[in-house]
Amino acid sequence: MEVLITGATGATGAATLAALGTDVTPRLMIRTPEQARRFPGRATAVADLDDTGAVRDALDGVDAAYLVTSSSEQAAEHQVRFADAAVAAGVRRLVVLSQYAAAPDSPVRFLRWHAAVEAHLATLPIERVVLRPNLFFQGLLAFAGPIAHRGRFGAPIGGAAVSAVDVRDIGAVAAAALVEPGHAEATYTLTGPRPVTHPEIAEALAAATGRPVAFDDVPPAAFAAALAGALPPWQLEGLVEDYAHYARGEAATVDPAVERITGRPATDVLAFARDHAAAFTAAA
Ligand SMILES: NC(=O)c1ccc[n+]([C@@H]2O[C@H](COP(=O)([O-])OP(=O)(O)OC[C@H]3O[C@@H](n4cnc5c(N)ncnc54)[C@H](OP(=O)(O)O)[C@@H]3O)[C@@H](O)[C@H]2O)c1
Repeated sequence: MEVLITGATGATGAATLAALGTDVTPRLMIRTPEQARRFPGRATAVADLDDTGAVRDALDGVDAAYLVTSSSEQAAEHQVRFADAAVAAGVRRLVVLSQYAAAPDSPVRFLRWHAAVEAHLATLPIERVVLRPNLFFQGLLAFAGPIAHRGRFGAPIGGAAVSAVDVRDIGAVAAAALVEPGHAEATYTLTGPRPVTHPEIAEALAAATGRPVAFDDVPPAAFAAALAGALPPWQLEGLVEDYAHYARGEAATVDPAVERITGRPATDVLAFARDHAAAFTAAA
């Protein structure tokens, strides 16, 4: 079975690749030849999502494809175009990474963009599987520097709980959805095993690293001001919208899909922290 993996240089694409069985022949769609050289021994297809011809070639002869793009202003356009190309290439199944609570009327722009893609997919003659993960635990790695150096990190989320999910579980579900029967037309909400607050995440990181870790609730305006210049305005505004959604307690529901599909419990924050402890101490 030929499976095309997009985003193999990114978080969920790499996790999906790692979870695929040996009976599958993965082909990695990589943006540049330089990055493709990072995958010796792997079948690669160099294609930018903006290059329709290269994407068409990448999809040639493929049975199933995993589709993820960066969070960008072009994300919905890229994903819609890729899905249309997959249909034209005769791909049987498309597994697409969306987001928990994607909705056309969401105040969070990323959730509206994902909803637009989902709506388009529903019109296409292809077996589709939509994955809607909650906040990634691995997103905490962005705070590894402050945690290692100062023993604290901050975000505009207060004490709200979020049923955050481990990217490795997303990869395991994506791999199953690509190759197993019975997933066509499913939309899976992917969460961790329990809702956790950021102060609880700080406790888990402290236990795993053996060092004190504190969480600071940062007002949205101060959070945005601290990142101004580091991120483009659309991304910063989108991030603040995302955190406001979490802070309203809208992302705390636990869904059993990860355990049902993978046959093992979703990864808990304590295990995430233990497995990544080195990253939260390395820079100190
Ligand atoms: N972070 C969270 O907590 C969270 C939660 C729920 C859902 N999501 C969703 O997850 C998605 C991001 O997933 P991720 O973290 O796995 O992605 P990621 O780590 O940001 O990686 C994105 C991948 O897409 C590739 N890519 C980007 N633009 C491309 C282009 N023009 N042509 C070809 N390849 C391109 C990147 O390649 P390069 O290496 O070349 O850039 C990279 O491999 C977003 O849609 C986001 O909304 C995120």
